[in-house]
Amino acid sequence: MSTPGNLPANPDVWTVRRILEWTAGFLKQKGVESPRLEAELLLAHARQCQRIRLYTDIDNELTESERTQMRASVQRRAKREPLAYIIGSREFYGRSFEVGQGVLIPRPETETLVDICLERIPKDQPRTVAEVGFGSGCIAVTIARQRPLCSVIATDLSERAMEIATRNVQKLEVTDRVTLLAGDVLQPLLACGTLFDGLISNPPYIRDDERDSLQPEVALHEPAEALFAGKDGLDIVRRIAADAVKILKPGAFIALELDPAQCETVATLLMASGFSSTSIRRDLSGNNRIVEGIV
Ligand SMILES: C[S@@+](CC[C@H](N)C(=O)[O-])C[C@H]1O[C@@H](n2cnc3c(N)ncnc32)[C@H](O)[C@@H]1O
Repeated sequence: MSTPGNLPANPDVWTVRRILEWTAGFLKQKGVESPRLEAELLLAHARQCQRIRLYTDIDNELTESERTQMRASVQRRAKREPLAYIIGSREFYGRSFEVGQGVLIPRPETETLVDICLERIPKDQPRTVAEVGFGSGCIAVTIARQRPLCSVIATDLSERAMEIATRNVQKLEVTDRVTLLAGDVLQPLLACGTLFDGLISNPPYIRDDERDSLQPEVALHEPAEALFAGKDGLDIVRRIAADAVKILKPGAFIALELDPAQCETVATLLMASGFSSTSIRRDLSGNNRIVEGIV
């Protein structure tokens, strides 16, 4: 079997077509789920072009530097490092967010969380919402971009998240309305003394004992502190629920992304923590995914 280390030395051989075929076959052997698509995305990244452009350039040869970059990328992907970390970005709500080792890659379910929050944030009135666990900043930035009169104050413990989210806030031009605070769960929000119109979180919610059942991309490469939250996965959620009403105005909302199996428990927990009503919302796959509550 050939490996990226022994691509033939003759550069004439390596056209776009050949490298795509070779890479797709190699990634398939390594257990990657969509090997052809990923081969195209890696090559488009190496050539710094749109994916569609590969087809107009299909018989063109790769340059030496493109081959070198492709070799390195394919080696990383073969070790099941997520594609998003290799190319350094992931689309979320139609915008490109920088991601990298140490920060959770935004998930499609979280776009549903954002949609549900946007239903509660008017376009034409100022609002201030809080977020716990900003990660890449995808939720805070998207809310601010979709609602130009809304400000977001978001917290995270991770230094790497702070670095990357800060760059995303700058790149997507919402520095005037997104504030990132380092700290533990609601502590920085309690300390700033603001009463918020809403509280959003996609907290870590995976049970510790689920680690072995996760895809290698997640288990080996994504940050444990963004994923795992104790025996039942609710360690962080319980801490959010305990203090949430202290930072929320009367009538304000909370929206939490969860595992489908946790939604009923968390709805009950919110009612016991001072919320007056709750509801459970589904994601695009039809699974219970988000618990909403109103103070
Ligand atoms: C599931 S990730 C969500 C990231 C991002 N909001 C998203 O939806 O892609 C959870 C985030 O919570 C942060 N986190 C974990 N424990 C925390 C804590 N005790 N206080 C604040 N943030 C925490 C992690 O660093 C991680 O960035």
